[in-house]
Amino acid sequence: MFDGPSSRREFMKAAVAVGGASALSACMSRAEEPIPKGTDDPSSLPERQHAWNDVLVHDDAGNVEGPRHQLLLYVNLDHDGPPTEDDRRVLESALTTLDRAYERSHEGLVYSIAYSPAYFDRFDESLPDDLDLPEPRSLAPFEDPEFDRQDALLHLGSTRADALLEAEEALTGDRDTANTVTMESPLTDVLAVDSRRTGFVGAGMPAERQDVAGIPDSKPVPEQSPLFMGFKAGFAQNQATEDYVTLQDGPFAGGTTKHVANIRQRLDDWYVEQDFEDRVAEMFSPRHAAEGLVDGVGDNLGDSSGLTPDIIESIEEQAKQYGRVGHAQKAARANRDEEGNVRVLRRHFESTDDDVASLHFPSLQTGISVFEEVREAMNGTDLTSNPAIRQRVNNGILEYIFVRRRGNFLVPPRRLRSFPTPTGE
Ligand code: HEM
Repeated sequence: MFDGPSSRREFMKAAVAVGGASALSACMSRAEEPIPKGTDDPSSLPERQHAWNDVLVHDDAGNVEGPRHQLLLYVNLDHDGPPTEDDRRVLESALTTLDRAYERSHEGLVYSIAYSPAYFDRFDESLPDDLDLPEPRSLAPFEDPEFDRQDALLHLGSTRADALLEAEEALTGDRDTANTVTMESPLTDVLAVDSRRTGFVGAGMPAERQDVAGIPDSKPVPEQSPLFMGFKAGFAQNQATEDYVTLQDGPFAGGTTKHVANIRQRLDDWYVEQDFEDRVAEMFSPRHAAEGLVDGVGDNLGDSSGLTPDIIESIEEQAKQYGRVGHAQKAARANRDEEGNVRVLRRHFESTDDDVASLHFPSLQTGISVFEEVREAMNGTDLTSNPAIRQRVNNGILEYIFVRRRGNFLVPPRRLRSFPTPTGE
């Protein structure tokens, strides 16, 4: 059953989605290459947990490609009150084991651990006043999400499904070793997994996995698309740099803030009612469609989505002329600082958890309000003064996406990664 290359792929995708020891052992017996080993020297690792770009794959145009397999473990401390020194020692030991076991790269493992406002409420002290980390909230009049308020979020990724699964099993105490390194104290000795969410991104993967609720039966997702909606995203020029999203001052200097949404997709009308040009207009801008700027999934765009200041600023005129506005065009209105720098670093990836097409949407920025401003611009409520533009129709991609969950987190610098206090002491 698992002999040929395509059946091996089938197998790997099922394995990450399902997990479990039997999935892993079958996966491992198939692995052709050893997984690259990590390091015993923590000082060789970057202080910024979120600095992944250097060790991920870049396409020919220099755009960063997210890890093909990803895992979000939402975890809770297993007792009331603040964490103890013992808790801290156990967690640091588990993470150090990961660092020793896997090269910090897409072929080994990239990961970060982040903490919620609810976690910091366990302490008597408060977070610094200028740290912009509110509780998650609803960000549109038309959404009613559940809020992720677990203590922490461990986000892991790898090109290698077997590395990711093995790391998870070692962290959760289901196996004793990670890439032959002994896991002395698993993460689950101190943190209980409340929610396990899986995902993937990259050319070929959405097309292979499109047999789920939310995607029409006609199998419309293009083979080359890294995402279900048929286009690539995350062009280098339209992403904040890791430097830009890094906190510069205060106890958490070297860290960043992370918003994570989970968004259900219903793509029947996207693919069935609309043709390619309609999709380009609604994803990028009507001008992109009129001028034929996008071929296929958008590889021809190079390292920029092609949004110019003029395309962004003339959005109301385009709404009048074409009766609709584009998603990227709308969001970009709030996504530049005064010097023209991009403000948020998006790292979204797809999911078929529970057999439903959804998007996990992590975004990094210096403060959660930056994300909230960009999301407000994407809501485009201001544009509905034009009668052709309704809150969810002709308004970018809002007709097809439904926010189910939101959570806010602080990604501390590495030195504070194991149960930070609000003051960073
Ligand atoms: C299924 C959901 C989504 C898909 C498929 C999607 C896809 C895309 C694509 C193809 C682009 C243009 C290329 C690029 O610059 O990356 C883009 C741009 C962008 N999207 Fe999304 N997106 C989704 C949801 C969201 C959400 C929830 C936000 C939250 C605010 C968002 C914010 C942005 C921003 C800020 C840009 C860049 C605009 C700029 O140039 O500044 N997107 N998206």
